[in-house]
Formats: sequence, structure tokens, C-alpha cells
Amino acid sequence: MGNGSVKQDKIEEAFFSYVNDVSGLEDENRALKEHNETLERELEKFRRAPLIVCEIRDLIEDKAIVRLPNGNEFLVEIGKNCDALKAGDGVLAEQKNLTVIRRILTNKKFDVERFVVIEKPTVPWDAVGGLHEQERDIKEVIELPLKKPDLFRQVGIQPPKGILLHGPPGTGKTLLAKAVAASTNSTFIEVVGSELVQKFIGEGAKLVKEIFQLAREKAPSIVFIDEIDAIAATRVDVGTSGEREVQRTFMQLLSEIDGFEPLGNVKIIGCTNRKDILDTAMVRPGRLDRLIYVPLPDADGRKEILRIHTRDMKHDKDIDHEEIIKLTEAFSGAELKAVCTEAGYCAIRNDRVKITQQDFLDAIKKVSEEVRRENTEFKGMFG
Ligand SMILES: Nc1ncnc2c1ncn2[C@@H]1O[C@H](COP(=O)(O)OP(=O)(O)OP(=O)(O)O)[C@@H](O)[C@H]1O
Ligand SMILES: [Mg+2]
Repeated sequence: MGNGSVKQDKIEEAFFSYVNDVSGLEDENRALKEHNETLERELEKFRRAPLIVCEIRDLIEDKAIVRLPNGNEFLVEIGKNCDALKAGDGVLAEQKNLTVIRRILTNKKFDVERFVVIEKPTVPWDAVGGLHEQERDIKEVIELPLKKPDLFRQVGIQPPKGILLHGPPGTGKTLLAKAVAASTNSTFIEVVGSELVQKFIGEGAKLVKEIFQLAREKAPSIVFIDEIDAIAATRVDVGTSGEREVQRTFMQLLSEIDGFEPLGNVKIIGCTNRKDILDTAMVRPGRLDRLIYVPLPDADGRKEILRIHTRDMKHDKDIDHEEIIKLTEAFSGAELKAVCTEAGYCAIRNDRVKITQQDFLDAIKKVSEEVRRENTEFKGMFG
């Protein structure tokens, strides 16, 4: 009898553990099912073709003209559930037939801030060697109006809107522009003319507009346009679409300078090595009408520039400065800097930390050979 009840107990025990197992397995099954569904959904995402980000150019009845990132434009359908659209909106479109699916919020300033360099330079005036006249001119035309706008109001004259720095490469044009931005604590917005028209095909004019908008917001500011000749060169014809695009960008630049909205604390500094090919419209009175020539340094200039770039170098006491200055005739500031760096390398190669006269002489030779090679390559390309 007793045996029978023990057996009964065992059966009951087994039964409960079985029930337990089943409910555990059911739970597990449910969890796996959910996981499976999540994975299916993820998989579905991977299978779906990506949508194209494009811009609405115009609306024609129930269709839209969209512009793709590559500049091509198409007349396309608008999806049923798409929000109301207007020209200029950013949208997502299907890849196959470019049906507009929905509108996206695009930050207007997104473009500019990504494409231009914005900084607060810290270049002090004493980092610029020679160029005293140029420094004085820039202080008068850019620094004074930014620092004392009231003075100009009292006297009743309009300070120039901008200047054009021109001269050979590597002579310190960028350096001067950064120094005046630093001394006026201005935002320095740097644009390169050639990039404006090559990299941002079809967007040059729009970008110019946004650059000036940004400059007004961040005033006092200096819009620095390097290689301005790339957008402001005289053109004999504007036949190709590329040329028309450059023309549009140039027109936009002129209209920003002439602008309805006063530029106020926004100054423009243009830079070029090719003033000869510049469209005279750019330098007409009221535009970049102060031309400042930045030449190769003379002997005194070279002395100052060498002093600046050897400031932190250890060198022998008997360095013959006069010889170095004589041997670097027609060197630009950038080349003089290269000489100093190269002299440092000569010392390193010879396990020294002190630079000798010979290091300088070797460096001068090396840099001038490099310059000569570049010049012959240049001539080789153009006859
Ligand atoms: N007058 C100068 N005084 C001190 N350093 C100079 C001078 N000119 C050039 N340099 C040195 O050479 C570097 C390049 O000069 P910078 O970029 O100002 O030349 P640039 O005239 O703008 O040339 P580019 O026409 O090629 O743009 C400077 O960062 C600086 O180190
Ligand atoms: Mg420069």
C-alpha cells in the first residue's frame, strides 16, 4: 500500500515538472518568435532600395521637377501620402521612377558650414615679415572701420567694402588677411574660388548667397576669397554650361557686394596671383576697389621673414645673415620658410640640434632647385 502512494507522488512530481517545462518552452518559443520577427523586419530594411535625396525645382500641376545631386532634372510623380511641397524643398524619391515619397527638413546653412572654412585666426601682426605698407593699408581699410565705425559715420564717408590682395604666390597674402581677422577678432570665412565652381557644380551662386548670409550672422567677419580669378576672370564667351555657371556665381558675388542689404561689419578680401585676367567689374569703385600689391620681399623683408621663422631655432653664433639674404634673392616668404625647415632637417640628419651656416646654404640650394624644377615643369606644360 505504502508503495502505491510513493508511486503516486512520483507521478505527480513528474507531471508538474512536465507542465513546468512546457510553459518554459512556450515562453522561449514566444521570445524566439518575436526575435524572428524583428530580424525579418531588419532584413526587409536591407532589401529595400535606398531613397534618393533631391530638391524640388518646380511644381507643374500634380507633378514635380526634381533635381538630383548630380545636377540632372526630371519631371516626376508625387506619391499619394506626400506632404504639401514647394520649390526649394528637400525630398526623398524612389530610385526607379523618382516618385517623390516625402519631404525632409534640410538645414539651410548646412551646405555653407560644411563647404567653407570658418575660424577665428590668431595670427599676430608680428608674424608677418616686411610688408609694412601693405599692413598699414589693410589696417586703414579693414581694421579701422571694423573697430571704429562711428568715426566714419561722423566724418560722413563710407569705408570700402573690401580689398584685393594681388601678387606672386607665397608672399603672405593669406597671412595678412588672417592677421587682420585676428586683430579685429573677426570670424574668418575662407572660400576658394576654383572650388566654388568646380566642386559645387550648379551650387556656386547659391553658396555665395549663403556665405554672405552667414557672414552677416557672424559679424564682424571677413569673407576671404582665395583664387578669386577663378570666378571673376574676363571671359570672351560663355558658351558651355560650365562657363555659364561661373558667370552666375560671379554675378551673385557682385550682387552680394552691391547688395540691398548693407554689408556692415562684413569685409571682403579677395586674393589673386592673376590680376591681369580679372574682370574689371570686380574692382570697380564700391566693390573691391582697394588694390594692394604684395610683392616678393626685398633684402630687409627677407631679413624679417627669416628672423620670424628662425625664432624658435637653435643655431650657431656665427651665422652670416648677409650671405643668406643675398643668396635668397627672389625667394618668396613661403620659400624662405621652407629654407628654415630644410636647414632644420639638415641638422637632424647630422644628429645635431643646432643649425649651422652650411645647413642654411644646403637648404637654400635645395629649395632653389625645387623652385627651378617647378618652373621648368610649368614651362613644359605651356610651351
Ligand atoms: N611676409 C611673410 N612673413 C612671414 N611669413 C611669410 C610671409 N610670406 C609667406 N610666409 C610664410 O609662407 C606661408 C604661406 O604664405 P601665404 O599663404 O600667406 O602666401 P600667399 O601669398 O597667400 O600665397 P598664395 O598666393 O600661393 O596663396 C605662410 O604661412 C608663412 O609661413
Ligand atoms: Mg594664399
